[in-house]
Amino acid sequence: MNNLVILVSGSGTNLQRIIDTIDNEEIQNAKISLVVADRECYGLERAKNHNIETVLIPRGKNFSSDLSKIIPENTDLIVLAGFLSILKPEFVESWENKIINIHPALLPKYGGKGMWGHHVHNAVIEAKEKESGATVHFVTVGIDEGEAILQKSFEVTENDTPETLAEKVHKIEYEIFPIAINKLLNVPI
Ligand code: GRF
Repeated sequence: MNNLVILVSGSGTNLQRIIDTIDNEEIQNAKISLVVADRECYGLERAKNHNIETVLIPRGKNFSSDLSKIIPENTDLIVLAGFLSILKPEFVESWENKIINIHPALLPKYGGKGMWGHHVHNAVIEAKEKESGATVHFVTVGIDEGEAILQKSFEVTENDTPETLAEKVHKIEYEIFPIAINKLLNVPI
């Protein structure tokens, strides 16, 4: 059995999708051992509703070291599912190739500091991009710079707004996140 730790900051719809796809075995041999949030958020409630252990570590300079102290040693994968804090380099390096993130754009475009949520979608509209999408990638010390694991795009039309893009991105995220997680856990390289 693979043990997952999921980090959240928001509504946690991607967390919900991971919970559901573990249940229906689209993600096989996996168990969420812990959900950690860096602020009060609905993601925590979703975890509690499924009897998953939760911890709230307030965001700030001690977040990564506090997380190190409580994260189970047998963790196979740390999944950032709408998580907004930046993890410290020491933490990222000690879990090399075991931390993944989902980003609401086609990395390497629209990544880096400050590029999250509506900031990404506003920038995509501003630049009159013809397509956008979502990317699952490894977390490395450089923000949003780790190798992409899975990416899927969709067409941006003239009528799209940041809100419609967010909706389309979420749909794609629900599709690719379970596939990427299952592949990492269960498909030999
Ligand atoms: C997602 O769009 C993800 O790409 C970004 O934050 C959003 C989280 O949404 N990192 P949710 O909390 O899973 O609903």
